[in-house]
Amino acid sequence: MDFKTLFDLSGKTALVVGAASGIGRASALGLADFGAHVIVADLNLEGAAAVVSEIEAKGGQATAASANIGDGSSVTALIDGIPRLDVLVCTPAINVRKRLLEYSDEEFDRVVALNLKGNFRLLQAGGRKMVAGGGGSIIVFSSIRSQIVEPGQGVYAATKAGVLQLVRTLAAELAEFGVRANAIGPGVVNTPLTAPIKQNAAWYDAYAKRSALGRWAEPEEMVGPVIYLASQASSFVTGTIHFVDGGWTAIDGRFTPPL
Ligand SMILES: NC(=O)c1ccc[n+]([C@@H]2O[C@H](COP(=O)([O-])OP(=O)(O)OC[C@H]3O[C@@H](n4cnc5c(N)ncnc54)[C@H](O)[C@@H]3O)[C@@H](O)[C@H]2O)c1
Repeated sequence: MDFKTLFDLSGKTALVVGAASGIGRASALGLADFGAHVIVADLNLEGAAAVVSEIEAKGGQATAASANIGDGSSVTALIDGIPRLDVLVCTPAINVRKRLLEYSDEEFDRVVALNLKGNFRLLQAGGRKMVAGGGGSIIVFSSIRSQIVEPGQGVYAATKAGVLQLVRTLAAELAEFGVRANAIGPGVVNTPLTAPIKQNAAWYDAYAKRSALGRWAEPEEMVGPVIYLASQASSFVTGTIHFVDGGWTAIDGRFTPPL
């Protein structure tokens, strides 16, 4: 075996949903660099088209698609419009940072509708397509919040633990069809999702210090794990969560003893 081809995605079709921004955009650019034809899907079609232009400018292949994972018929149309699917990357999520006792019914429904039910629809439709096609790799963006919380993260954290359990179940149910499913658990990443935190210097710095590496991640630092999970390099990896958190979940972080 030539191990240099382990990460090669030539001839593969990769669908990235939420690809107009942040981690999804970086994932789409990375998958195209490794040879995949990337379907760049987002609620924001203009943003998706801009990412396609970036990929084409680098010599890659990509197609823009409009998709709203909050709407079952939109997800069906998206998946039906793709001849085959080898890699699916699901990223859309929102966070309403608020203490549980102050959460409204409407806010709970909005977060769960996108983060859990929207991603479920996509996993279901994408999984069916991969089973019909004889295999594939599913990658879902969970979070360190699937494991650990702080005040204000309750509902978001519950959805991130929820998508992880969907991933684990897909791994169990789809292995016999050649489909693998894994989650990625980022720490804090500089994207529009976390832009409100950047406005508060004390909050931003506290998060930076919380990881072993002492800083925030850039979206491009999620690309390596995405390529690994998408490709043959991870052929025996399924049902896992891969933390890309600069060591956040490994360390206590509050105090360095005088050693
Ligand atoms: N940024 C972080 O610090 C961080 C940390 C941990 C986990 N994550 C997870 O990573 C993922 C990506 O986060 P990000 O920071 O890149 O977010 P982002 O807000 O930058 O991008 C999300 C994209 O999803 C799209 N989207 C929103 N609703 C949609 C819908 N209904 N249908 C289709 N597309 C829709 C948006 O238009 C946007 O382009 C999320 O699941 C998030 O929970 C992010």
